[in-house]
Amino acid sequence: MMAHLIDGKEISLQIKEELKQKAIEYKERGIEVTLAVIQVGNDPASSVYVGNKKKACEFVGIRSLAYELPEETTQEELIALVKELNERADVNGILVQLPLPSHINEDFVIKTIAPEKDVDGFHPQSVGALSIGQKGFVSCTPAGIIELLKRSNIEIAGKECVVVGRSNIVGKPMALLMLRENATVTVCHSRTKDLKEVTKRADILIVALGKPRFITSEYVKDGAVVIDVGIHRDENNKLCGDVDFADVEGKVEAITPVPGGVGPMTIAMLMNNCMEAIV
Ligand code: GUN
Repeated sequence: MMAHLIDGKEISLQIKEELKQKAIEYKERGIEVTLAVIQVGNDPASSVYVGNKKKACEFVGIRSLAYELPEETTQEELIALVKELNERADVNGILVQLPLPSHINEDFVIKTIAPEKDVDGFHPQSVGALSIGQKGFVSCTPAGIIELLKRSNIEIAGKECVVVGRSNIVGKPMALLMLRENATVTVCHSRTKDLKEVTKRADILIVALGKPRFITSEYVKDGAVVIDVGIHRDENNKLCGDVDFADVEGKVEAITPVPGGVGPMTIAMLMNNCMEAIV
């Protein structure tokens, strides 16, 4: 069986094109959407992510304000900046790139972001709203996965969905979103007994466990849909996901590649959240 390759690059481009039109309409009404991006220190991976976010803003027509703060920035200084941006009428979205240096309490900083500008969907109020089905920003990676499934015409309602990983950014909100779409949802994690037995039940298997090529064909049911959130560099410096793509591909109905699957969708959904931050 030839698996359908879920092309996140193409789908994210479609979404960004749609948002570009919306940004033009906003501009005609005198509204400029603005995202403030704060990075503390020079973590190389964070710098790449922040650079990609800026590029996406330029593409869509969102103004981005970059705050590149030194590693020694204190928690008080960072909080003061977030509070200033909360107050600014010309700033619609605020994103604090994670991880923060260890002397700064991430939870405390996230809690300071005004929920109506929390385009990452990390504020406890945003997470709470998602868990009780109320309106609020949704974490971009899981929101992007729902969009990938919908735009690939993959039915979610009534399906067995297994999420591997329970992080606050991906696993937990992913499970809540799949539940909202009426899937039957199981969440697995490092203490799950007999992981294979559980993942083999999945019609839709979403993997975010952070181990390169961990999920082999033994973990996957014939004809399943597999979504790979992981991104790693292997021993040959080649990008790979949490799923052993070459091993699994022949067995499944559809699968996301790495790169070019989930990754580009995260940024597209961030752009979408920024547009939605306009009331
Ligand atoms: N670090 C890794 N992923 C993310 C993300 O989606 N948002 C933020 N703010 N930081 C991250």
